[in-house]
Amino acid sequence: MCGIVGIIGRRPVAPLIVDALKRLEYRGYDSAGVATLNDGVLDRRRAEGKLGNLEKKLGEDPLEGRIGIGHTRWATHGVPNETNAHPHFAGDVSVVHNGIIENFAELRDELRAQGSEFHSQTDTEVVCHLIQRELENGKSEIEAAHAAISRLQGAFALAIMFRTNDDLLIAARHGPPLAIGHGDGEAYVGSDAIALAPFTNDITYLDDGDWAAIHRDSFEIFDEAGNPVERSRQKSTTTAILVEKGNHRHFMEKEIHEQPEMISHTLSNYLDFSKYEARPLNAAIDFGTIDRLAISACGTAYYAGLIGKYWFERLARLPVDIDVASEFRYREMPLAKNGAALFISQSGETADTLASLRYCRSQGQIIGSIVNARESTIARESDVVFPIFAGPEIGVASTKAFTCQLAVLASLAIRAAAKRGTISPAQEKAFVRELSETARYTRMALKLENRIEEISRELAQVKDVLYLGRDTNYPLAMEGALKLKEISYIHAEGYAAGELKHGPIALIDDSIPVIVIAPHDRIFEKTVSNMQEVAARGGRIILITDEKGAATASMQTMETIIMPDVPELIAPIVYAVPIQLLAYYTAVFMGTDVDQPRNLAKSVTVE
Ligand code: G6P
Repeated sequence: MCGIVGIIGRRPVAPLIVDALKRLEYRGYDSAGVATLNDGVLDRRRAEGKLGNLEKKLGEDPLEGRIGIGHTRWATHGVPNETNAHPHFAGDVSVVHNGIIENFAELRDELRAQGSEFHSQTDTEVVCHLIQRELENGKSEIEAAHAAISRLQGAFALAIMFRTNDDLLIAARHGPPLAIGHGDGEAYVGSDAIALAPFTNDITYLDDGDWAAIHRDSFEIFDEAGNPVERSRQKSTTTAILVEKGNHRHFMEKEIHEQPEMISHTLSNYLDFSKYEARPLNAAIDFGTIDRLAISACGTAYYAGLIGKYWFERLARLPVDIDVASEFRYREMPLAKNGAALFISQSGETADTLASLRYCRSQGQIIGSIVNARESTIARESDVVFPIFAGPEIGVASTKAFTCQLAVLASLAIRAAAKRGTISPAQEKAFVRELSETARYTRMALKLENRIEEISRELAQVKDVLYLGRDTNYPLAMEGALKLKEISYIHAEGYAAGELKHGPIALIDDSIPVIVIAPHDRIFEKTVSNMQEVAARGGRIILITDEKGAATASMQTMETIIMPDVPELIAPIVYAVPIQLLAYYTAVFMGTDVDQPRNLAKSVTVE
């Protein structure tokens, strides 16, 4: 999703802005641009595609100036081309924007009627013209910006620069996050502290509705009504070191391989390995006494939540209501009086997840969040944060965050079960012992990489793939399909194995590989029956199972991937590895942009 950077410096800022934008690349984008003010002249360079294209333009035709704004754009209104790329200009005003101005069409009509000429198809350009109108009406830069911002509806983060003032940037937040960075005689604004890490770790986050006037040596923050407000300064823990790929071809490959270590690290924060007990949790949510749990998330994090539902309900007998956040936020579902709500988000900034959180807050729920970004909005608006310790995840397709989310959910479910007395102390120890083996099994699963690479070569030839699983492997089947779609652009569906005969079986022929995720567990035989149904119709099965499963299934498969024999509890975490590797290598054979697949964003801050 769009990334914003602004700098008022003491040195030429264009190269600094590009460096900061590189740190926002992980969010996903399809064009980029930088504008600076130099000797009373606003100038810009913009380019479609990767930041390399913008750098090339800046190399050929550099931008001078000690104040500037920059942007990576993920298209919402208007195709990704140079004309629609930010910064946008109108008269003395330059703007970069993340989000959606919902009333832009109405504002554009009004401005056109007053003579404004539009050059792009973006909603952002109305902001420039609106501010320019206010300047022409005699308002100061700060007054003009405030007047314009007050008229905008929707979700937006903005950075604004004026041709007439080389010591002023306006930053405004209505939804998507924005951070001000404080330097020595320099000031910065950015979509997150990661972007600003090379310059400063002294950060002030704007609250929702805030806007700020930023100068080299000072800044003022105002609320929506224009009253000055104080917001706390904090030391960001984000590292300035740009996360590197190391020996790996892609961040996704690196992140898949980091999983054993990250899962161990995450689990050690939730489990006491010396006593084989789940550690006590922050008391804000009493899992021992709540009546119901609501869970909401998007994408991969939603599938983690679905698996969590199986665990909470089976182990702790705690009923869970779960939905994707874009539905949850508008469903007006009744929530239990004595209930808690859990929000799962790698970035902690997903707009729909945040809106679901706020709905639950308005309904009197206690709010917990499972996040990777601990300084994120979702974390800050929660009563209790259950961090995952996955480290920065750069690949747009989530991998290590998913398995670390599962590690946290399993730990919470065990703790809840122990507190509710639905498992005995001996069972708690047994489950914790099983969970503590996850990293070891995950490492074993990674050893199957070469074999999975071979199988992926065949997958890269097909148009459609079906994934099947039962129980916790059903959400994993959906996650497998999502991973494949996201990065290889091959159409894939994840289904509950037992549901196959109610529709998708009509698709089966020898052109569609069917990936069956089936460890030898309580319901393995049921899945074997579903595989028979596929085989009888000429379907080509790729079976992911263990030794026992392979022996028992005794049927002709296209391929069988033999996994280590793992306890049922941790199967979806360990089986996530071959699922991720299959998608990864298929995408590599397809030659797609694995880390930044087309049209996708890492951090989705619009609805
Ligand atoms: C985007 C990403 C997905 C991610 C989802 C939720 O769609 O491309 O990989 O699962 O957002 O993101 P979150 O940061 O809330 O986990």
